[in-house]
Amino acid sequence: MTPRERAKGFPSDFLWGIATSAFQLEGSLNADWASWDKTLNEKPDVTNHYDLYKEDLRLLKDLGVNSYRFSLEWSRIQPEEDVWDYDAIAHYQEIIDILLENNIEPMVTIHHFTHPLWFIKKAWHDDASIEKFLTYTKKMVSMLTGVRYWITFNEPYVLILGGYLEGCMPPGIRDVSLAVKALKNILVCHGQAYDVIHSHIPDAMVSVAHNMAAFNPWHRWNPADKLISRIARHFYNNSLLDAFSTGTLRLQFPFKKAMEISVPIKDKIDFFGVNYYTRMHLRFNPFKKMGIELRHRDIGGYGLTDMGWEIHPQGLERVLKRAARLNVPLIITENGIATRDDQKKIRFMKKHIDVIERCLKQGIDIRGYFYWSLIDNYEWLQGLDACFGLYSVNFDTLERKSTNAAAYYSYLIKSRSSF
Ligand code: FCB
Repeated sequence: MTPRERAKGFPSDFLWGIATSAFQLEGSLNADWASWDKTLNEKPDVTNHYDLYKEDLRLLKDLGVNSYRFSLEWSRIQPEEDVWDYDAIAHYQEIIDILLENNIEPMVTIHHFTHPLWFIKKAWHDDASIEKFLTYTKKMVSMLTGVRYWITFNEPYVLILGGYLEGCMPPGIRDVSLAVKALKNILVCHGQAYDVIHSHIPDAMVSVAHNMAAFNPWHRWNPADKLISRIARHFYNNSLLDAFSTGTLRLQFPFKKAMEISVPIKDKIDFFGVNYYTRMHLRFNPFKKMGIELRHRDIGGYGLTDMGWEIHPQGLERVLKRAARLNVPLIITENGIATRDDQKKIRFMKKHIDVIERCLKQGIDIRGYFYWSLIDNYEWLQGLDACFGLYSVNFDTLERKSTNAAAYYSYLIKSRSSF
């Protein structure tokens, strides 16, 4: 980037987008989450986006975005290990086609938390998971056309934390050594999927979407709190970044010896997807798991979201600067707020986009921003109460309604774009 381009802030080809995931909009009876969360029995098709997709894609056009990140629901595509549902594949192709007709760049997430029931029985710590995931990926990459941007995994660390350490997500395991095995297999899958995608689409742009957070010690004066936040920051944010530049995953859990695991992902990344939502304050507490206790504090005065998360736009700058050390373009693949208060949503967007503009002016190569999310939807641990949408949804009638935050996002896109 030349200094002149840099001073302009947002480049003309900046991706202004919206991010969603299939299961959170459309559910799926064959997915592990459908039986994991019994509250879904009452509303298995959530917003019924699977039928109402045309109406929802029109909202993207109304917003004026030029990119849309969405995911494929594996359990719809491969309901049994030896059964492919070609109608489901055609459905996702139709979504891609509609986007392309409207000059909206598709970004496809292959794996966004959910699995077919047949897969989760053995899950990721089983080495056979690699072959299973790659079979699905190869099928998708060879059948779907018109997609250049691919995300192999959404938030692999959240999947491991929830599924293998805290046990609050399928497969509901709490075991550090299985967690490490599962993480390794997922990263092996990423590395191989990267090659598969590039063998079909030479100019593909492939990444993961990595959840990064800002971490601070609960008490700045306390060396134990400082140590705990450093360990958390290294594990949660940075160990994956380092693994992409070195091919070695260095993991350290509190009070345990560090492990070094070789993972075949060195440089297997064309851009880096960052999902950023919040900051956490951590302290050492011997009565908590791994000695870590976390809380959200409203220190900056921006308040907490309906998820109880601190609104902390400056944290985005911190994580982007760290991710920039990978020396690949960055895309904010998710950022958003759960609130019913439009003014709070508007302020959240403005503050985070201001941070991105500031980073661009400092020369950080940021190529896109995806607001989470288009319409209110199912949130993994909160159900239907977390209102992230720019369009609200009445879950009885399924009516979508525009909010002031939607109008504001359109305005932001127009006013910050350089055409
Ligand atoms: C992210 C997830 C996404 C959504 C948002 C609120 O961590 O990737 O599916 O639930 O949080």
